[in-house]
Amino acid sequence: MSLPAHLAVIMDGNGRWAKKRGMPRAFGHRAGVEALEPIIEACGGWGIEALTLFAFSTENWARPKDEVAALMGLIVEYFNKKIDELDRKGVCIRMLGDLSAVPDLQRETALRAMERTKDNKGLKLNIALNYGGRQEILRAARRLAEKCADGEMRPEQIDEVAFEGELYTAGLPMVDLLIRTSGEERISNFLLYQCAYAEFVFVPEYWPDFTREVFARALETYARRDRRFGKV
Ligand code: IPE
Ligand code: IPE
Ligand code: MG
Repeated sequence: MSLPAHLAVIMDGNGRWAKKRGMPRAFGHRAGVEALEPIIEACGGWGIEALTLFAFSTENWARPKDEVAALMGLIVEYFNKKIDELDRKGVCIRMLGDLSAVPDLQRETALRAMERTKDNKGLKLNIALNYGGRQEILRAARRLAEKCADGEMRPEQIDEVAFEGELYTAGLPMVDLLIRTSGEERISNFLLYQCAYAEFVFVPEYWPDFTREVFARALETYARRDRRFGKV
């Protein structure tokens, strides 16, 4: 079965999962964190090179203050609880997004996790935190413009390789498969550049219900797709 080298996941539906149970949205986010382990484990086991998870978008700041605080709290809690195990499994963590706007505790925890696991050779686990695809593209454009202004490069040297080198995902393969849970069928500003030729699989399950079985089915769907990349 052909597997994606780079799998991206929009983990959506935590709030609705909680609402269905008459619980606050934060309860759904907590359940969402629990769903991570089997998926990370499966990706490692199946030899998927990179897994990119959408944890918090640049637009999610517009949510109620207490929900933003709950999400941020869970991120620190997750790293504190899981970093030893992830490190032991050889997982290499990279954060994608503008960490400068993230609260100090979250940023420091994330940077520490990244530093500690940077030489690991197993699954590349990318966590998109305060990430927006448009912002990422603008940032790359600005960085290249600065290099040109500084005389480090000429505008005609800006090609795909140079551009991709300025993205948060520099060095990673382009996204092969994007999975979104919860039945929503949109990209919500995630990996706009990297998904140029991605296959999209939308599953109805809310993220906390995204089990290894649901995951396996999504991968089977992907394996049946005929990827043509513009050719015949
Ligand atoms: C996804 O679940 C988690 C984050 C955006 C962090 P949601 O919180 O978007 O859940 P729904 O879509 O409202 O159900
Ligand atoms: C996308 O989900 C962001 C994350 C999963 C972190 P949203 O729930 O924020 O997206 P929209 O608002 O439904 O498009
Ligand atoms: Mg949502």
